Amino acid sequence: MLCLVAVALSFVGLATLLVKFAKADGDFTVTSRGPPKREEVEGKVVWITGASRGIGEILANQFAGLGAKVILSARNASELERVKSEIISNYPASSIEVLPLDLASGEESIKEAVKRAESLFSNAGVDFMVHNAAFERPKRKALDETEEGLRATMNINVLGTITLTSLLAPYMLERGRGHFVVMSSAAGKCPAPGQAIYSASKHALNGYFHSLRSELYDKGIKVTVVCPGPIETSKSSNVSSSAEGGLKEIGAKRLDAAANKKSAYSWNLLFGQKKSI
Ligand SMILES: *[C@@H]1O[C@H](CO)[C@@H](O)[C@H](O)[C@H]1NC(C)=O
Ligand SMILES: *[C@@H]1O[C@H](CO)[C@@H](O)[C@H](O)[C@H]1NC(C)=O
Repeated sequence: MLCLVAVALSFVGLATLLVKFAKADGDFTVTSRGPPKREEVEGKVVWITGASRGIGEILANQFAGLGAKVILSARNASELERVKSEIISNYPASSIEVLPLDLASGEESIKEAVKRAESLFSNAGVDFMVHNAAFERPKRKALDETEEGLRATMNINVLGTITLTSLLAPYMLERGRGHFVVMSSAAGKCPAPGQAIYSASKHALNGYFHSLRSELYDKGIKVTVVCPGPIETSKSSNVSSSAEGGLKEIGAKRLDAAANKKSAYSWNLLFGQKKSI
């Protein structure tokens, strides 16, 4: 009898775990974390690059919804203003600032942006730096890549991101707290046919930020490297095309699903993708 109860209980346990796993987009890390905790970001300053569209725009909305003060950066100021007014119409009480920034603009201009970001919200300082900006380029085979594409990808994805980090980290160290969140990619862990340069840039980011974590973990600075699979950024232009070299976008529409659910954890993320391959 006791044995039967034990078997039944373990089935229930297993089923619960499977449902949780599926709802977390098949990701054990997400499964273990649960839903976002408001108390961890409420009132904190969150600086997001690449905030004018795609993942950056959705993250900005979600952080604002959780009560964070958000700094929006990207090159295009008018797009940032659009995102800001959308966030304010979604969350009228939110505090949003726009800080146009080109990550390829060199150390001096990035230094100015860091000073400005630190001084916003009555010199509150940046608590979370979300490195989300990336150079968007058409998929190309490794040997077809142009010098221009190579330089732009490395300048924005790697050099600009690292420079911004090294200029901001001293402020965080002084406060004894801070959190870098890096939007890397599955391409930063495994081969990505048609995306050799992009993949190289993401490997570089992973190498830098995992090393940085090992140097700063005992000084109150956290580093989170996120490696999502392919995502169709719905508001971007038609750069990724399945016609090109027979490449296919998998997991398309994930972003839309996340936006609709107002959460990055969703059943649709796992099963919604089947329709759109
Ligand atoms: C910025 O965005 C606006 C609105 O989408 C667009 O019209 C404009 O061309 C963009 N500016 C630049 C420099 O890309
Ligand atoms: C992208 O391409 C599809 C089909 O080729 C087209 O219907 C759609 O309007 C395009 N979207 C943009 C933003 O250009």
